Amino acid sequence: MDLTKRFNKNLDKIEVSLIRQFDQSISDVPGIMKLTLGEPDFTTPDHVKEAAKAAIDDNQSYYTGMSGLLALRQAASGFVKEKYNLSYNPDNEILVTIGATEALSATLTAILEPGDTILLPAPAYPGYEPIANLVGAEIVEIDTTANDFVLTPDMLEKAILEQGDKLKAVLLNYPTNPTGVTYSREQIKALADVLKKYEIFVVSDEVYSELTYSEEPHVSIAEYLPEQTILINGLSKSHAMTGWRIGLLFAPAILTAQLIKSHQYLVTAASTISQFGALEALSVGKNDALPMKKEYMVRRDYIIDKMSALGFKIIKPDGAFYIFAKIPAGYNQDSFKFCQDFAREKAVAIIPGVAFGQFGEGYVRLSYAASMETIRTAMERLKEFMEEHAN
Ligand SMILES: Cc1ncc(COP(=O)(O)O)c(C=O)c1O
Repeated sequence: MDLTKRFNKNLDKIEVSLIRQFDQSISDVPGIMKLTLGEPDFTTPDHVKEAAKAAIDDNQSYYTGMSGLLALRQAASGFVKEKYNLSYNPDNEILVTIGATEALSATLTAILEPGDTILLPAPAYPGYEPIANLVGAEIVEIDTTANDFVLTPDMLEKAILEQGDKLKAVLLNYPTNPTGVTYSREQIKALADVLKKYEIFVVSDEVYSELTYSEEPHVSIAEYLPEQTILINGLSKSHAMTGWRIGLLFAPAILTAQLIKSHQYLVTAASTISQFGALEALSVGKNDALPMKKEYMVRRDYIIDKMSALGFKIIKPDGAFYIFAKIPAGYNQDSFKFCQDFAREKAVAIIPGVAFGQFGEGYVRLSYAASMETIRTAMERLKEFMEEHAN
């Protein structure tokens, strides 16, 4: 008997992520310092922790409704109205999910069928493709490397037309992991003008929306395409709450009524205690991201300064907490090998760009969700490494 042959065949398309493979390949390096993590190094704000403790003491230990606590959905509705000028009815247009991850799973499994395609500007977060593959759909990447990682309306329309009827959705993620690129109001409006011509979903993962560094606040594509957009957000990045696992899904009522079916049978509901914490975060803690943002900007500028001096080409990121840097000419362009050598010789881990797809090859990603002390040491060691490997 060989039950391994009886799994869903689509699982064969899913490999252990390159990030995990890389992590494993360097895990034996003693005292390794990591600039790899996609989670804030800050702790969750104290008032949020207190709210969750109070919920425990208050015996809030029962399931909430499938869409989540009404008070939390009301707070989420108020939050996106105030911050991004979006209007979602808390009664039937918002779902509280287990992180943005579950919102993505619930969405992609609800909309995709075998043979469908979904467009994704790349390099991209590697969490999307496996979900699409599991249901027999395929991600088609749009290469943005030649345009400083920015998707233009022309690139988008060309890709949409190439896909034809197979195309079910366009997946956007901005501020973008791994590049930190984000889009201005004019850029979003121009992309929306293309998208509204086609009967396709726009799945917009905006989990880094509270971490933008330019003067202009984040602009959600849902503001221009409310009928087409399934908007995904969460508290992991904005409130340093990765482990609480709270995400949010916003969509028009007729779409939410469908999405709730996949959400319901995936998870029933998000953790009640976490939802009470999230309620506090999105009401009293609306601006909790601000002090973290200030600190992230200092770190970002420091790294850009140091790495540019070493010959790395960097598009200055306007959001998230990543630097995506081109390995200078004359050094190993195999990003996996480059990062492996750096980790083994200098005990600092950064992520090979190829972990974000074929268009990420030749780049490395550093997370600046790490203390300034760690960052300083890492930059000193990178300087040594580059000097030792210069041709
Ligand atoms: C672009 C992007 N989307 C989604 C997620 C997952 O977030 P969550 O913790 O809310 O599941 C991450 C986490 O790194 C991310 O970078």
